[in-house]
Amino acid sequence: MLKKYLNKKIQRLFISKNFMKILYFFHFVVEGRNTKEINISFDNKKKRTQIVQNIIDIKNYKSYLEIGTFKDDLYGFIKCEKKIGVDPVSGGNVRKTSDNFFIENNQSFDFIFIDGLHHYAQVKKDIINSLKFLNKGGMIMMHDCMPRNYYYQAVPRSQLNWNGDTWKAFLEVRTKDNLDTYCCYADEGLGVILNRTNRNLLKLNLDNFKKLKFNDYANNYKEYLNLIEYEDLIKIIEKYE
Ligand SMILES: C[S@@+](CC[C@H](N)C(=O)[O-])C[C@H]1O[C@@H](n2cnc3c(N)ncnc32)[C@H](O)[C@@H]1O
Repeated sequence: MLKKYLNKKIQRLFISKNFMKILYFFHFVVEGRNTKEINISFDNKKKRTQIVQNIIDIKNYKSYLEIGTFKDDLYGFIKCEKKIGVDPVSGGNVRKTSDNFFIENNQSFDFIFIDGLHHYAQVKKDIINSLKFLNKGGMIMMHDCMPRNYYYQAVPRSQLNWNGDTWKAFLEVRTKDNLDTYCCYADEGLGVILNRTNRNLLKLNLDNFKKLKFNDYANNYKEYLNLIEYEDLIKIIEKYE
């Protein structure tokens, strides 16, 4: 009881305006002031709700897992025969962290949406665990792969609109030759992982992707992410088995 209460208090502190202002200043001094702004806009792009539902309908997927559900904006919208939403705080139908969920889980899924804690190490774990429970012909989608400036992706979080360093975990998957990866230019960047040979391997020889610099990404993001438009994603998905 006390542990839960303290956890909530700490989480609230981390997203309080004044605390984030201090962190923003910290990031500015350390690295932020020398970084680029990328000309990215999602204004005329489709939303994740529409995109995820369209893919589920096209592929006739029967089972959906969402990691990190928050206010159920996506989870509540999705229509699918079996739905599981995992979040330690709110939304969904399983009140656990993704790690604890995967330890006890014995079900597999056609579509897995990763949108929990946006820290490189946690996202990487969520990807590895999701791959263990992905059905043949299924797909993983990851939210928040396209930060537009340094602060959107800086850890610890220093602003409300925040992608975290999810992009680093996605780039690491882009270097695996047994997984085919794309990023759809929509809704903060939707990373897509298909369980088949990589058709456009990213050749980045790094032992620690956490150390990647934002400016490297900013200079190369289209190639790094294998960026595609929604219409191209649908063509790829239609042919995927
Ligand atoms: C950005 S929100 C999710 C938004 C939601 N997917 C949507 O599309 O509207 C991130 C959520 O991840 C949850 N979260 C944080 N750490 C988590 C963890 N370790 N496992 C699962 N969820 C986590 C938070 O409680 C928060 O509700």
